[in-house]
Amino acid sequence: MAKCKRIGILTSGGDCSGLNAAIRAVVHCACGKGWEVLGIRQATLGLMARPPQSLKLEIDQVDSLLTSGGTMLGTTNKGDPFAFPMPDGSICDRSEQIIAGYHQLGLDALIGIGGDGSLAILRHLAQKGGINLVGIPKTIDNDIGITEHAIGFDTAVNIATEALDRLQFTAASHSRVMILEVMGRDAGHIAIAAGIAGGADVILIPEIPYTIDHICSQIKQRQDQGKNYCLIIVSEAVRTQDGETLTMTNRLGQCRYGGIGQYLADQLCERIGVETRVTVLGHIQRGGTASPRDRLVAAAFGVAAVNLIEEGKYDYMVTWQNRQVLSVPIAEAIAQYRAVNPDDTLVKTARGLGIYLGD
Ligand code: F6P
Repeated sequence: MAKCKRIGILTSGGDCSGLNAAIRAVVHCACGKGWEVLGIRQATLGLMARPPQSLKLEIDQVDSLLTSGGTMLGTTNKGDPFAFPMPDGSICDRSEQIIAGYHQLGLDALIGIGGDGSLAILRHLAQKGGINLVGIPKTIDNDIGITEHAIGFDTAVNIATEALDRLQFTAASHSRVMILEVMGRDAGHIAIAAGIAGGADVILIPEIPYTIDHICSQIKQRQDQGKNYCLIIVSEAVRTQDGETLTMTNRLGQCRYGGIGQYLADQLCERIGVETRVTVLGHIQRGGTASPRDRLVAAAFGVAAVNLIEEGKYDYMVTWQNRQVLSVPIAEAIAQYRAVNPDDTLVKTARGLGIYLGD
């Protein structure tokens, strides 16, 4: 088997905690084999630039990265290179430039750390341009198929749980209903995990329909039991009771989920007159030091990805399944969206605890 000498690594899509820990693991493992590692700046934008934007990564440089948030390489979650928005407003296919950038750097393989969207784009580039790609899954949403963990999810759950812990005291002090709106895109993994861990009374996720009447009953039931407050956690993609998706668009025309927390607050106030406050946790869930579990997952994925390159096993993504790091074809992983399964253990757990979860 030909020995690989120079590999590239990039982070793509929304950042999250644990990315630097993964970069560190890749550098340690690859340098340990005598390989050279080039960090590509700002995902595919670094390969699109001329000269391609990269930096050589050495063990000394990455050792302090274990606890730092974000990504030292930068990232982007905008601009599909196959339909890239140009400054003059036109759309251009810039995939050839990215592929040429990879070859100009003399890379033998590329490790792409990304979510399903990024991995799909990277795979498309790899297929078109002969890029030897290995994928590492990351996303606080934890919605990538065939992996129980993606880097960043655990830290986001910890942050959301801590938010509930804090909200509980102020909720009890003021006899209020507190609503915490969390991220997660179209999957409710963050909400259900943090909701159980943080003692929520109501957990709303996009996968399970709910009614406002049932939420009101849950609040009243608690009041009858002498409990003067209620904690509600809701995923950003949960729809209104009428099925409307709530989004916000900024002046740049960028559209994101947002508003379901306030919608619920207004509904509850109107129906049963409870005093309600809404906290939108936002990007706090993506920032800061990674949890020990995310660091562990990042370390294991980084090492496994380098080993896949050594085996010449390209077009694969590392995965976490039943406490083992395995690998699956990237095509299979991105073909399956991992939403919360209504038969999931956590769904049963929440219901067993008397949490209102919809339906
Ligand atoms: O996919 C990660 C994520 O944080 C989602 O949970 C959220 O909907 C989205 O990204 C926010 O994206 P942006 O950073 O563009 O605001």
